[in-house]
Amino acid sequence: MSKVTVVGAGRYGSTAAQRLSEMGLVDEVVITDVVEGLPQGLALDMNQSRYLERHATRVVGTNGYEETEGSDLVLITAGLPRKPGMSRMDLLAANARIVSAVTAQVAATSPEAVLIVVTNPLDHMTTLAAEVSGFPRRRVMGQAGNLDSARLAHFIAEAAGVDILEVEAVTLGSHGETMVPVPSLCRVRGRPLSQVLPAAVIARVVERTREGGAEIVGLLKSGSAFYAPSSAAVKMIQAVLGGRGQVMPVCAWTGGQYGISGVYLGVPAWIGQGGVEEILELPLTDTELQELRAAAAAVARFADELHSLEGAGPQGG
Ligand code: LAC
Repeated sequence: MSKVTVVGAGRYGSTAAQRLSEMGLVDEVVITDVVEGLPQGLALDMNQSRYLERHATRVVGTNGYEETEGSDLVLITAGLPRKPGMSRMDLLAANARIVSAVTAQVAATSPEAVLIVVTNPLDHMTTLAAEVSGFPRRRVMGQAGNLDSARLAHFIAEAAGVDILEVEAVTLGSHGETMVPVPSLCRVRGRPLSQVLPAAVIARVVERTREGGAEIVGLLKSGSAFYAPSSAAVKMIQAVLGGRGQVMPVCAWTGGQYGISGVYLGVPAWIGQGGVEEILELPLTDTELQELRAAAAAVARFADELHSLEGAGPQGG
């Protein structure tokens, strides 16, 4: 029996649970959240939709971790979202406490699971989950690159006036200010982006991608994006549990690729049953490579800040 736990029944977690269950990929999806009744109500509603959606995935809602036991994969969405005007880093201390506590529970109940973290600030919360769980680094990864690539693809499609399915886009680096959209790896109907859009338009598209999350936070006024983010996370789950791997940008533990090591950062990787099976070194321009290294340095700096926070780190909980 295959089982996925989604921690956090907010809009991100519940939409991910819905997408995943409707895919019929796993036998059971467990949603756990501290708010009494919320995960239970969502699970009941989703279970009733199965008759109409024609799938057999069972959804379980709980406030604890007993029901999550033995999960193959755990998606950690728990934490506070941004408010308008906030950066993802403004969430560091509050979300570190939440992610630390949640990870300790998950590691105890599902010791063989692959962990996917989506809580912000993403690169740091992924680092924290790896440390607290003590899991092999390849089994702990963060979701950001799929989402940021999807945003870049959308903006390219709009600027070029083409169908979204004719666009290929790649975004690496951190899920924050040092995000690295990679124009040299983007294609429109198979052609390099530089042959399709003027440099000034590419620069605008890149900037809007970097600010992609904040733009939606500003519009929503309460909460952050969840449709594209949940799609991005479920693509990772599909790569892990679907029987076939897939290449995608994810926040992974680097080991010398691009001259970067010992830091969690958005890189292209082969994702499969074991989690991050291989990090791929794609050709980047000198500027893109420099940006990626700068992103690694920025994440490493904040990793030190993370360790100085009370309640976070391997002994926290
Ligand atoms: C965003 C949040 C989910 O980028 O990080 O929308």
